[in-house]
Amino acid sequence: MNYKTKQVITVCGIVLFLFGCSSDQKNKSMIDTKNATVNEKVTSLLSKMTIEEKVGQMNQYNGFWDVTGPVPEEGNAKTKYEHLRKGWVGSMLNVRGTENVRAVQKIAVEETRLGIPLIIGFDVIHGYKTLSPIPLAESASWDLEAIECSARVAGTEAAASGINWTFAPMVDISRDARWGRVMEGAGEDPYLGSKIAKARVKGFQGDDLSKNNTIAACAKHFAAYGFSESGKEYNSVDIGTSTLYNTVLPPFKAAVDGGVRTIMNSFNELNGVPVTASKFLQRDILKDKWNFDGFVISDWASINEIIIWGHAKDKKEAAKLASIAGSDMDMEGYVYIRELANLVKEGVVKESILDDAVRRILTVKFELGLFDDPYRYCDPENEKKSIGNKEHMDAVLDVAKKSIVLLKNENNLLPLKKKGQKIALIGPLADDNNSPLGSWRLGSDDNTAVSVLEGMKNYKENTLVFEKGLDLFTGDVAFTQQVNVNTTDDSKISKAVAAAKSADVVVMVLGEHGFQSGEGRSRTKLDLPGLQQELLEAVYKANKNVVLVLNNGRPLAIEWADENIPAIVEAWQLGTQSGNAIAEVLYGDYNPSGKLPMSFPRNVGQVPIYYNYKNTGRPNTEQHVFWSHYIDSEKTPLYPFGYGLSYTTFEYSNLTIKGGETFSVNDTITVTVDLKNTGDVDGKEVAQLYIRDLVGSVTRPVRELKGFELVPLKAGESKTLEFTLSKNELGFYDNDGNFMVEAGDFKVFVGGSSTTKLEKSFELKN
Ligand code: NOJ
Repeated sequence: MNYKTKQVITVCGIVLFLFGCSSDQKNKSMIDTKNATVNEKVTSLLSKMTIEEKVGQMNQYNGFWDVTGPVPEEGNAKTKYEHLRKGWVGSMLNVRGTENVRAVQKIAVEETRLGIPLIIGFDVIHGYKTLSPIPLAESASWDLEAIECSARVAGTEAAASGINWTFAPMVDISRDARWGRVMEGAGEDPYLGSKIAKARVKGFQGDDLSKNNTIAACAKHFAAYGFSESGKEYNSVDIGTSTLYNTVLPPFKAAVDGGVRTIMNSFNELNGVPVTASKFLQRDILKDKWNFDGFVISDWASINEIIIWGHAKDKKEAAKLASIAGSDMDMEGYVYIRELANLVKEGVVKESILDDAVRRILTVKFELGLFDDPYRYCDPENEKKSIGNKEHMDAVLDVAKKSIVLLKNENNLLPLKKKGQKIALIGPLADDNNSPLGSWRLGSDDNTAVSVLEGMKNYKENTLVFEKGLDLFTGDVAFTQQVNVNTTDDSKISKAVAAAKSADVVVMVLGEHGFQSGEGRSRTKLDLPGLQQELLEAVYKANKNVVLVLNNGRPLAIEWADENIPAIVEAWQLGTQSGNAIAEVLYGDYNPSGKLPMSFPRNVGQVPIYYNYKNTGRPNTEQHVFWSHYIDSEKTPLYPFGYGLSYTTFEYSNLTIKGGETFSVNDTITVTVDLKNTGDVDGKEVAQLYIRDLVGSVTRPVRELKGFELVPLKAGESKTLEFTLSKNELGFYDNDGNFMVEAGDFKVFVGGSSTTKLEKSFELKN
């Protein structure tokens, strides 16, 4: 049975089962005072709850078809329904569609003693049905408005399908392209990551959570999951406090400041403590220091995994540790529901711990308006109208174009001429409608992306010949999500070579399939998988006019391509409108403006590689062997953070620090620079500002991004840009987590990438 059939059967089964058993249709109203504040309503409701009902609110079960983690033994439907009816379930994940959500909600509201509605969670990572680019790709747009809009589309469609809570944004900073989940984040930089975290939260939550097109967001994974050792999924994390405070935590703090209503913890440990059991992170930092008043959800069975890590001896101890640490809700772990009530009765866990968790959970439910109308997200008419509508399609096309990064364009091979050209389109991913959807797209349908072949066919005045060159190897793609590019059969390469020979230009679409990144998909190599390198070299031998279009969920190491192929376009996995976006860029109807949110290494041995590294004590003597470098590779990345070209050129000049060179630590410093479009076509440039604090009580990186602006400029146009630097940008966290600004010498750099040479100096005095 294939995945989709299985899904339909199960869905029908659930609906029958639910309606068949639902007897009592009473309409409950627990809240006496209509005009009471949320706080008063929560207090009143809390006072009526038994310990078991409180634990129930802290319990989340998975639905029955989308499985996004290992299925625990206890996870059978019978137990779940029994618990639902007893009021022992506060939330469900992976239940979607207005009909299915209504069915489970009906049990919670109409059959349980207190009728508390469920909050329904789902991984709406880069769209629900209409898909935006994967989050890493979107981050390459540096366009906060477009990113917010993309989250709004995702939230609107999810809400229309019954969902009121997304497990997004993932705000984990990562420097390791081997880790499959880099596709889900905003890249390597905490400043850019913080801005994007805020934009995504705003997009999902809007200004009013009680509207039926806004949903609660969840910043995850708290914390440091992106630093899994050697990029291996679910591995240990071993980072210093300075990295924790200055790199890992800022995007979470930004999400909290931006009003995110929930936080998910993670699978990793930190300093030997699985973070689900970390009081230091969840209670001391998140809830106490940052005053976060939403709730914390565990990751999938991560409370159980405290035992497997070897930090708790059994479920009882795991429940105790996690609840005291501040994990408010147990995702599909069956630990709280089994142990927590007894732990309270035995006096091991204080009831106030439960009260605090339940207060947080109920508060979010009230804010979502679920108590006013538990079915507010269950309107089938709205579901039909909203999902996949034209406005959403346009929005995802817009952000897809903005996410593309032009990596190389020798002799202006791009944009392609629109007429009279014979173009050979080659590659296993060129006609694929599934891969561009990327990983994490449970709410969408397979094979619904516009392929590059389809996108290029819109340009009819050229001759387009397509040759696959290599096949994809796929298992049951949707279910097992196993896929690779052919590793053994090179029989189609010769046909591709022949097509290349007779073409004016060759466009090759190569890279990773959408299921070669994402959760559980770490790699040890960062090359083009399968026989794609062989295909690329064979085609290049036949015709040097090759445009390489990369599809990938992580930075790839493509040193040979960079040396040889004249034009390279980074097109990630761009979602539903992928092929249209790529074709518009190839033909120059959209001038690319993306900049890399993660450094691209020359080879896998350089990883982790990132622009904001520390100087070391031996940065660059080059006199002898004893300096920080490799003997078999350059130490610089192939393409640095912030890098990306355009079909026009930009010039920066007149970098000025207003008001001299000396300031007080409390001053706000204004930096200006002139930016000119020096080419023949209109374009957009992401102007970036970096600082370097030369001496610190905790050493500072060689560069830190502290400002950027996306600037549209007509051909020949110039503009003076203004950036400001105040305490927030000039300071850093010490090793106790205190934020401070230190007096001393600074440098400021402005330009079109993290390697810009344009710089000025200033001094801060106490
Ligand atoms: C595990 C993943 O780590 C998390 O990000 C996701 O939200 C949950 N599974 C639920 O699917």
